[in-house]
Amino acid sequence: MGKIVAANWKMNLKRQGARELAAALARDGRQAWLFPAAVHLVEVAEAIKGGKLQLGAQDVSPDRDGAFTGDLSAEMLADAGASLVLAGHSERRQGHGESSGLIARKLKRALQGGLSPLLCVGETRAEREMGHAAAIVGQQLSVLSELSPTQRTQVAAVAYEPVWAIGTGLNATAKQADEMHREVKSKLKSLGMEKTPVLYGGSVKADNCAELLACPNVDGLLVGGASLTYESLAAIDDAARK
Ligand code: PGA
Repeated sequence: MGKIVAANWKMNLKRQGARELAAALARDGRQAWLFPAAVHLVEVAEAIKGGKLQLGAQDVSPDRDGAFTGDLSAEMLADAGASLVLAGHSERRQGHGESSGLIARKLKRALQGGLSPLLCVGETRAEREMGHAAAIVGQQLSVLSELSPTQRTQVAAVAYEPVWAIGTGLNATAKQADEMHREVKSKLKSLGMEKTPVLYGGSVKADNCAELLACPNVDGLLVGGASLTYESLAAIDDAARK
């Protein structure tokens, strides 16, 4: 069976690079979830057709349609080939000031428009140092209580991504990840979401992934920087299949 590997390509790659990377993964029969830039969705969808890879967008509008310059609706993203979408990534919470209220609207809209969301949560370094990590993550997970019980079962996954670990080269230790994942799973259980997979993200690399994947409460990995080359992503995916 193996564990889930999700690749967040962020604002990287050009059309050709995204297409070639996706095609190489598809040729190997891999099952990862790919999150390319929205302008590459159609091309990547074409490259992975018939295979087991799944495609997602990195963001979605909280609105259905209309005068929202620059935004992309869930329906547009689904029409471009996406079946998944990230929500609540710290680069959007912090860089774009996204509030829990906005994230809740995006989750609902994604589900209404045919996309399964992957909700990202995680504390900052200061919050961890003050001993508030679990409380912050618990608060961020509370948006899920705004979904109906049926909608909750359609959430693809939750990713625990401590902000201090994202893109810093300083991953959470297996112990830190496992402890927080246990908290996340207990909160999800109280929401009727005990089947929802919980992924770890933040400086996952080929050389630290095995340790994280060995944690019983880690159901998979959300990988940023190390998902941008075939060698590195394939090595992480191989470790997840073991
Ligand atoms: P990173 O990013 O692997 O480059 O730390 C992870 C993420 O932001 O999803």
